[in-house]
Amino acid sequence: MTTVEEQEYLVLARSQDVREGEPTSVVSDGEVILLTRVHGQLHAVSGICTHAYSELADGELDGTRLYCSLHFACFDVRTGAVLEGPAEHPLRVYPVFEQDGDILLRRERRVQGA
Ligand code: FES
Repeated sequence: MTTVEEQEYLVLARSQDVREGEPTSVVSDGEVILLTRVHGQLHAVSGICTHAYSELADGELDGTRLYCSLHFACFDVRTGAVLEGPAEHPLRVYPVFEQDGDILLRRERRVQGA
C-alpha cells in the first residue's frame, strides 16, 4: 500500500469579512486561525497564544505586530515569529489565498493508495 499526499482547499471566510487591521478569528477542523490583512496583504496564523491559552483575536494589532492581551507577548503575523516575550515559541503559519471572494486554506492530506 502506498501513501500519497493530496491537496485540499477549505473556505475559511469571505474576503470582505477580513478588514484591514482588524484580526478575525475562524475555526477550521477544530483549529483556531487568526486572519489579518495588513497593507492589503492577507496573513493567517494560529489564533491561540503559544505562551498560555489566550485567544489572540482579543489582542492588539499594530501593523504586522500582534500583541497578546494576557501577558503582552508580541508576534509577527507574517512569519509567526516571537518579537517580544514571554512567549518562546512561534505561531503556526497557515497557507491561505483569496479566490472569487473567498479566503481559502491549502492543506496537505495523506491518502492511502492501493
Ligand atoms: S498567554 Fe499570551 S503572552 Fe501569555
